[in-house]
Amino acid sequence: MFLGIDIGTSAVKVICTDGTEIFASASADLTVQSPHSGWSEQDPQAWWTATCHALAEMGRTQPLAAITAIGLSGQMHGAVLLDARHDVLRPAILWNDSRSIEECAYLREAVPEIGAISGILPLPGFTAPKLMWVARHEPDLHSRIAHVLLPKDYIGLRLHGGVATDPSDAAGTLWLDQAARDWSSVIAEASATDPDWLPRLADGQEVVGQVTRQAAIETGLRAGIPVVAGGGDAATGAVSLGATEAGRGFISLGTSGQLFVAGEAYHPNPDRFVHAFAHTVPDRWYQMAAMLNGARPIAWLAGQLGVSAAEVVALAERADPSRVPTFLPYLTGERSPHGDPHIRAVFFGLEDSTDRAALCRAVVEAVAFTFADAVQSFGDTLRDLPHLSAIGGGSRSPFLLQLIASATGTTIARTTGSDAGPAMGAARLAACGVGAMHLSDLGRQPTLSDRFDPDPSQALDERLERYRGLYRTLKGFA
Ligand code: XUL
Repeated sequence: MFLGIDIGTSAVKVICTDGTEIFASASADLTVQSPHSGWSEQDPQAWWTATCHALAEMGRTQPLAAITAIGLSGQMHGAVLLDARHDVLRPAILWNDSRSIEECAYLREAVPEIGAISGILPLPGFTAPKLMWVARHEPDLHSRIAHVLLPKDYIGLRLHGGVATDPSDAAGTLWLDQAARDWSSVIAEASATDPDWLPRLADGQEVVGQVTRQAAIETGLRAGIPVVAGGGDAATGAVSLGATEAGRGFISLGTSGQLFVAGEAYHPNPDRFVHAFAHTVPDRWYQMAAMLNGARPIAWLAGQLGVSAAEVVALAERADPSRVPTFLPYLTGERSPHGDPHIRAVFFGLEDSTDRAALCRAVVEAVAFTFADAVQSFGDTLRDLPHLSAIGGGSRSPFLLQLIASATGTTIARTTGSDAGPAMGAARLAACGVGAMHLSDLGRQPTLSDRFDPDPSQALDERLERYRGLYRTLKGFA
């Protein structure tokens, strides 16, 4: 039995699986701290505590002693800063934090070839500019840094005591030379980073350590169980769907959103803010449009209205589509396709008659429109867009998936276990690490449960144009 642990932004999720079927799962919620506008932080200790809680809950239905290998997945790009004793120096700065705008501008000038090397132009969510921000604003703390880890790798450290990462999480730091699948000392040095601080690189299925006695006491897992490197949540989501094979793709609807297509070669397309990153498995890369706001605006509106996310979608279904305002969903700025950390969310077109249902519909539609923009941003770098599977919490809503199919003009499929994607991918990598699966088995796709074809009667074109026009009008207004 294999354990997948996914360090998400809103929760830690754990699943127990044989690589195909999920036997047990549990989750523990997390909160995000935003002490200043544009900041987004979490305490790495909160990830560990949530991991222990989720494991304790899963242990009530599934004996943890049956687990024979562990795989890790997690939110990408976060900066976890440690001193030489492996103590955490400050709260982790997350993927949707936008404080390091000036540092990004500097990096683009200092290393003009950065987009070609690292597969994306500098944006504040990535790890490297965060280190430059810390050097400038917290120099004492910066002088004590001995290690920089990604979120899932911090959990790896707590589990097995080692300092390692995989190519897909390394890919999201800006420090990786994507073609060589190795750290770029040029970019590290330009970004106030000693290359010695960076973790050792191991492919996602490689065993990087064993559960220590201390971790066994805290988690209830058996000491000595192998832990594989795992992957960033985009790559592990791909592994859960067989998107290790070239040409396969999916969309992810979590706190963030992604449109991901796997390939056998590195094809940088930095000007459109499409990420060209190393996959977690050897000899594979991928292209990804990454939207910072994903399905989060639905949860945000639910919080403001005091209802559940499911109720927001149900209200949206009841709205009169001809009387819906336009919502730009950029609560934390946007990465693909705009590369714009300054933009913020807005409702436009509110009338005296606008009701809760209309607001809900505007927000749900906006989530679908971000995927239409994602498809457009791939442009001619992708000859044929494959049929896309959907994963993540938002994939539970048939209404949202239908809107995405119509807005993108692409069939969207849903498979069994779609909302546990990244944790499942991590567990499959663990199975590979101990020889229970081969890398070629990762191409196996889960069973299709439903499909959503574009429906022209939804007549979204005009509203999509209005949505795009509103961004063009507001761009640069801060
Ligand atoms: C990908 C991205 C998100 C985070 C959080 O580039 O920023 O997927 O990994 O889920």
